[in-house]
Amino acid sequence: MKITIVTRNINNFENNINQVDTYGRGNLDDVLAIKKILSERGHEVKTLEVDIDLYENLKSKKPDVIFNLADDGFYDDPRLEPHVAALFDILKIPYTGNNYFTLALCQNKARAKEILTYNGILTPRWQVFNNSNRKLNPELKFPLIVKPIREDGSVGIKERSVVKNDEELKEQIEHILDIYQQEALVEEFIDGREFNAGIIGNKKLTVLPIAEIDFSELPPNIPRVVSYRAKWVKQSIAFKKTPVVCPANIDEKLQKDLEEISKKCYKIFGCQGYARLDIRYDEKENKIYVLELNPNPDISEDGGLAREAKTAGISYENLILKIIDLALKKEV
Ligand SMILES: Nc1ncnc2c1ncn2[C@@H]1O[C@H](COP(=O)(O)OP(=O)(O)O)[C@@H](O)[C@H]1O
Ligand SMILES: [Mg+2]
Repeated sequence: MKITIVTRNINNFENNINQVDTYGRGNLDDVLAIKKILSERGHEVKTLEVDIDLYENLKSKKPDVIFNLADDGFYDDPRLEPHVAALFDILKIPYTGNNYFTLALCQNKARAKEILTYNGILTPRWQVFNNSNRKLNPELKFPLIVKPIREDGSVGIKERSVVKNDEELKEQIEHILDIYQQEALVEEFIDGREFNAGIIGNKKLTVLPIAEIDFSELPPNIPRVVSYRAKWVKQSIAFKKTPVVCPANIDEKLQKDLEEISKKCYKIFGCQGYARLDIRYDEKENKIYVLELNPNPDISEDGGLAREAKTAGISYENLILKIIDLALKKEV
């Protein structure tokens, strides 16, 4: 088969407004690993960076399938991630992962939460701020968490993002507006267990073993969140003290509920291929809250989805082949 891997660029992020948190961005390890796997299987594999000539380049290459690793979008602007997939549709070339519409729906976290709420899925109560002088909706109770409305990979999430009073709230909203140049999403902070659920499939879905972030060793002065530091900065306490446990130690009932909710969300957003959900479970109230759904999450070998697949007995190689297979069998 002729396979083209469409990849993010390695460059200096010139056009990217979010130059603050760029760990892991522009990393091509997954591209190289996937290229190796597919080449070894005898496929004719080419890589193509996302740039303004992408359409013409693909038109002349005419691959049988595209492996979409262009999660940084055009011009390294993740807002333009759906547009890359839309272009594959225009060219009528099958591609891995989610379609442009799902990618776009999940991009704005507040819009996605509206859709979840409409469909009866619990998500933390929230309010969007485009300036810090707006009054807080009295239904929202502290502590709250303040996040950029459309980022990934814990970009913009710090220990100080969890706020306990109006003053801290205002400060964090201003920080988001100023640094990330986007609206601030303020949510009730759900103090509970955090799970990730990876799913693969188009119509017939496989929920991979659920992973849990173990916050138990985190010093009490550090809020229990997967901050940017906890996710990326390997030498930090936050990173070291938030290991991932997979499979999570959960009872059958919780397992079943998490799987059911995850599948429901996958379907609501019309996901295809693979996706991953972030979930919080409030044990006191016995409530499961969906934080967000990530279509086309990180599929590098040491990333969450690959780890969950491995726990299920699916090797990295088989995961990649499965994702290609699903791309060729997408249903409209
Ligand atoms: N409402 C919330 N309650 C508790 N923790 C939260 C909440 N929202 C986010 N977090 C914490 O912040 C992390 C990143 O938030 P998330 O919305 O998943 O953004 P990202 O797209 O950057 O992954 C989560 O994994 C979780 O640890
Ligand atoms: Mg997340």
